[in-house]
Amino acid sequence: MGDPVYYHDYLHLDELLSTQQPLTDAHDELLFIVVHQAYELWFRQVIHELEAVHAILSGDVVPESAMLRLVGHLDRVGSIQIIMLAQLATLETMTPLDFMDFRDSLVPASGFQSVQWRVIENLLGIPVDTRLPIDGKRYTSRLADDHAAAVGASERRPSIFDLVEAWLERTPFLEAPGFAFWDAYRRAVDDLAADELRLIEANTNLTDDARASQIARAEANRARLAALFDDGLYAAEQQAGNVRMSRRAFLAAVMINLYRDEPIVQVPFQMLTALVDLDEGFTTWRYGHALMARRMIGGRIGTGGTSGAEYLTEAASRYRVWGDLLDMATYLVPRHAIPPLPDGLRDKMGFA
Ligand code: HEM
Repeated sequence: MGDPVYYHDYLHLDELLSTQQPLTDAHDELLFIVVHQAYELWFRQVIHELEAVHAILSGDVVPESAMLRLVGHLDRVGSIQIIMLAQLATLETMTPLDFMDFRDSLVPASGFQSVQWRVIENLLGIPVDTRLPIDGKRYTSRLADDHAAAVGASERRPSIFDLVEAWLERTPFLEAPGFAFWDAYRRAVDDLAADELRLIEANTNLTDDARASQIARAEANRARLAALFDDGLYAAEQQAGNVRMSRRAFLAAVMINLYRDEPIVQVPFQMLTALVDLDEGFTTWRYGHALMARRMIGGRIGTGGTSGAEYLTEAASRYRVWGDLLDMATYLVPRHAIPPLPDGLRDKMGFA
C-alpha cells in the first residue's frame, strides 16, 4: 500500500488555485478568469470523450458491443453542454460597465485563440472550407506557432463526421432491400411532396409573393428528394452546399431513421440522434455566447480583432457538422406509408 491519498494533493489544488492571476484590481476579473478556466477544463473532458468515440469508429469494423459505449460518450458531452450554457448566465451577472474595468487589458487575447475549442470543432468535423477568415487570413493565424500546428494537425485527421459517414456507407442492409423497396419509398416521398404543393396552392391566406416563395421551397425539397436516387443530381446538390454526406451514407441514415424500431438499428439510431443533439447543443451555445457578447460589448469589435457579436452570429449560423441529419424530416414519410421491409431483411434486423 502506498501513502494514503490526500484530497488536496490528488487534485493538485495548490497548482490549480494559484493559476487565477488577474491583470487588474477589478473585482469581476476573477469571475472572468474562473469561468474561462472552467470552460477549458470541460473542453478537456469533451476531447477525452470525443477521442474515445473516434477510437471506436476508427476500427475496420465497429463492434456492435461498442455502440452503446459510444452513445454514452456522446451523451456525456451533451450533459457537459448543459453546464456550458449555464456558465454563460453566471458570467452575465457581470455588467458591461464592470467588464469595462478590465477589458482593455486583455487585448489582443480572446476565446478566438482557444486551441481546445478548435480541436473539438475539428474532431467533430466542421468543414474547413466554411471557416471564416480573420483579416483575410486563416482562423489559426492568431495562434502561437505550436498551437496553430496542433490545430492544423487536428484538421488533417479524419473527423468523427468522416468516420460516421464511412460507417454508414458500410451498412450491410442497404443493398438488401432492392429496387422494389426504394421504388416504393420514392413513391411515398413523392406523394408527400405533391401533397405539400397542393396545400400551398390551396392556402387562400397567402399573398402571391408568399405563395411563390413557398412553392419554390417545396420544389427545392422535391429536387433534393429526386437527387437521393440519382448520382449526378446528388453531386450537384453537394456542390451547391445543400447536402454534405455521401449519397450512400445518407440513404443508410434514412433507413436507420425509418426502421429505428427494428432491434439492429436501435442503437445506431440513438447514435445519430446523439450526434444531432451535440450539433444543436454547440449551436445553441454559439448563439448564447454571441448574445452575451452583444450585451457586454454592444456593436464594438472583439478583443481578438473580429467584428465582435456580428462575427459570432455568422459563425453560429455556419459552423455545423450534421446539417444533413438535421434536415432528415424532409425525407421521412408517415409510419403508414413506410414500405414494409422485404422478406428476410426484417428477420435479419431483428437479430434472427
Ligand atoms: C464577457 C464575456 C465574453 C465576451 C464579451 C466574448 C466575446 C467574444 C468575441 C467578440 C469573440 C470573437 C473574437 C474576437 O474578436 O475577440 C469571441 C470568440 C470566442 N469566445 Fe468569447 N466572449 C466572452 C466569454 C467567453 C467565454 C467564457 C468563453 C469560454 C471559453 C468564450 C469562448 C470563445 C470562443 C471559443 C470563441 C471563438 C468562437 C469562434 O470563432 O467561432 N468566450 N468571444
